[in-house]
Amino acid sequence: MVFKRSDINRSIDLAREVIDYFGFHLPLFAHWDPAQWKKAGHEFGEIRDCMLGWDVTDFGSKDFYNIGRTLFTVRNGKLNNRQYPKEYAEKILIDPESQRAPAHFHRSKREDIICRRGGNILVQLTKADKEGHPSGEIFTTQKDGCSLRLSPGEIIRLKPGESINIPPRTIHQFWGEEGTGYKIDGIGYTLSAEISSVCDDLNDNVFLENYGERFPPILEDEERRYYLCHEYPEA
Ligand SMILES: [Fe+2]
Repeated sequence: MVFKRSDINRSIDLAREVIDYFGFHLPLFAHWDPAQWKKAGHEFGEIRDCMLGWDVTDFGSKDFYNIGRTLFTVRNGKLNNRQYPKEYAEKILIDPESQRAPAHFHRSKREDIICRRGGNILVQLTKADKEGHPSGEIFTTQKDGCSLRLSPGEIIRLKPGESINIPPRTIHQFWGEEGTGYKIDGIGYTLSAEISSVCDDLNDNVFLENYGERFPPILEDEERRYYLCHEYPEA
């Protein structure tokens, strides 16, 4: 199914409900409507230039409810830009059971995935070889200060409060564990976070699927209720 504006509107409404249920809070601009964005001046340049805010994507899979993401970038820097020198990024992710991003790795970003509230997060990791393909390498990473030796494709379970480090060039997928999470309309939701080095979604991602379009085209089937991080009107 083509990725539609109605999917985006509904997913952000739901994300706000889930975040609220878990007693978590987002910055004010998470709640701005298009009219407020049109009034926002140059003082909000960091939001536009560092692509903060809502990010909803099906990665070009045309199967958003299985391969997709709804997240909010709270903070980020911009590589080689002295105006935005932050060297770190933080994202809040809403994880419905089973929905995941396509398997991918980052050329330079290092990230921690943290299970914050709700059910469990399952994280599957495999080291990439020099050509960017899955390797047979056994490797070490850290789970809350504890070194783990992992085999290719091994799945780690994170309970609320737990986290794992994903080094660069490590193929990863993670998702809300089936049968866990806060239920809405029969689907369990978990809240996770990503804390990482600067996130450059336009240049740093390598997808292993034949889709992997980070910001896919959107069918405008209803009026936009939120701007996505790559859609803001200019000041
Ligand atoms: Fe990633």
